[in-house]
Amino acid sequence: MDGVAPSAVVFPGSFDPIHNGHLDLIERAGRVFPQVIVAVLKNVSKAQWFSVEDRMRIVRESVKSLPNVRVEQSAGLLAEFVEQSGAHLILRGIRSGADLDYERPMAITNQALAPGVETIFLLASPHFAHLSATLVKELAVFGADLSRWVPPAAQAAIARRSRQENDGHPRE
Ligand code: PNS
Repeated sequence: MDGVAPSAVVFPGSFDPIHNGHLDLIERAGRVFPQVIVAVLKNVSKAQWFSVEDRMRIVRESVKSLPNVRVEQSAGLLAEFVEQSGAHLILRGIRSGADLDYERPMAITNQALAPGVETIFLLASPHFAHLSATLVKELAVFGADLSRWVPPAAQAAIARRSRQENDGHPRE
């Protein structure tokens, strides 16, 4: 970056689905950086509930009131996406020491793949430090009220998926 103020930060994730902890980080990042690019990517270690198109639609709907946030998707490597986007920063949220252990190899690998790209971290707000997409899906399976944890677009998509599962038509 050579002393130039960063103009954009990439906030990557699988967002399966986006939840209020993600949104908190996106809003906070939008107050620090001129532009936040939310990148919807594939996590090969996780079976995804929603297609990339659905995840994009849900994320777009959920951030539409934030003027300096845009949403993109990539089927490839995060490091390549960040280089192509012209940004030099990846932002990830940290809820716990376990998150740091998960993030460290990814940050080191991304820096090796794209020298000059740095990963920076924001601590999750305490009231979202327990929240994960995995937890949201577990609650959803048991029909819990998710309105405190996910934005309306995610809640609607989860409800739609549950109805399809109940009707014997798995997945959207
Ligand atoms: O929200 P997640 O599932 O923790 O996000 C993980 C994600 C999507 C950022 C990571 O799996 C990723 O970067 N996927 C894109 C492919 C890639 O670049 N993999 C190598 C990462 S070092």
